[in-house]
Amino acid sequence: MTQSQDRIAVLTSGGDAPGMNACLRSIVRVAYAHHVEVLGVRHGYEGLIQGNFVPLSLRSVGNIIQRGGTLLGSSRSRAFLTKEGRKKAYESLKLMGIKKLIVLGGDGSLRGAAKLSDEFGVSVIGVPCTIDNDLAGTDFSIGFDSAVRTAVECIDKIRDTADSHGRIFVIEVMGKNTGHIAIETALAVGAEFVFIPEKKDQPEAMFRKIKSGLARGKTGSIVIVAEGKKPGKSLKIAESLGRKIQREVRTLILGHLQRGGSPSPVDRNLASEFGALAVNLILSGKTKKMTIVRCGRMESIDFSKALKGKQKLSNEKLKLLDRLSV
Ligand code: F6P
Repeated sequence: MTQSQDRIAVLTSGGDAPGMNACLRSIVRVAYAHHVEVLGVRHGYEGLIQGNFVPLSLRSVGNIIQRGGTLLGSSRSRAFLTKEGRKKAYESLKLMGIKKLIVLGGDGSLRGAAKLSDEFGVSVIGVPCTIDNDLAGTDFSIGFDSAVRTAVECIDKIRDTADSHGRIFVIEVMGKNTGHIAIETALAVGAEFVFIPEKKDQPEAMFRKIKSGLARGKTGSIVIVAEGKKPGKSLKIAESLGRKIQREVRTLILGHLQRGGSPSPVDRNLASEFGALAVNLILSGKTKKMTIVRCGRMESIDFSKALKGKQKLSNEKLKLLDRLSV
């Protein structure tokens, strides 16, 4: 049995991302190699407020590397947004003799972790887990590659039926206020047009592109729409496109489908490496650092940098998409 000061806690927070389980497995196994006990927190910050801990043994994280979702459960906790909620969360940790916490999640989750550290002195390390891939400083967040793979698999199937019926499909993908999933998916499926929140909508450019494709004998066409602030934008785009070109236009909102399923090998390995790095950082006394991968190298940066702004989109990819979709 280890001493209480050698314990660390881990939680998964916000939208789940494929690869979270692989990361939990890595954290537990690397920590035990250092003779450090790991407690999991059920249901993110909500569970931390309630003191809902579960011991994670080496075996309890067996056979989960390939599973989507999160073994611990997740939540978007409103209570944790208040100082009172965070105080309760701190008291739960104190009661268990825990001073170190690893948080797997997106920007909101890491902001919460930063506050817990500033207000109560808890050491926190963040691991970027979000299908949106919007955290600044890291080329990739856990879950992004799998979400794009899922979207591509679905759209390839839609392409078959679109071609058979000469239909146009407007397909909406997730990504909140960023277009990373949209661009990556659009390029991979050979979409005719993409709408992203970072760029002003250009419906006229889309009409022209689709019309010229039809004139050149194209059968099906695919338009990808990033959801933006809230889901449903694709419905309006499809309606106006249908009216303009007098053709059947169908819509598909991929939604939460993109968050589920087995993580890709890329996400599994990124998760394993991030998990190991997170444990090393926290055990060496670091706090308010996020694990990152930059040009293939595993590193860490301060929360302040990671939470400043969003990861930029690649203009080159956008241009390439336009050039290739003829
Ligand atoms: O941040 C991940 C994400 O899947 C976004 O792409 C999406 O906008 C949001 O979460 C959906 O959140 P919820 O599952 O709470 O509806």
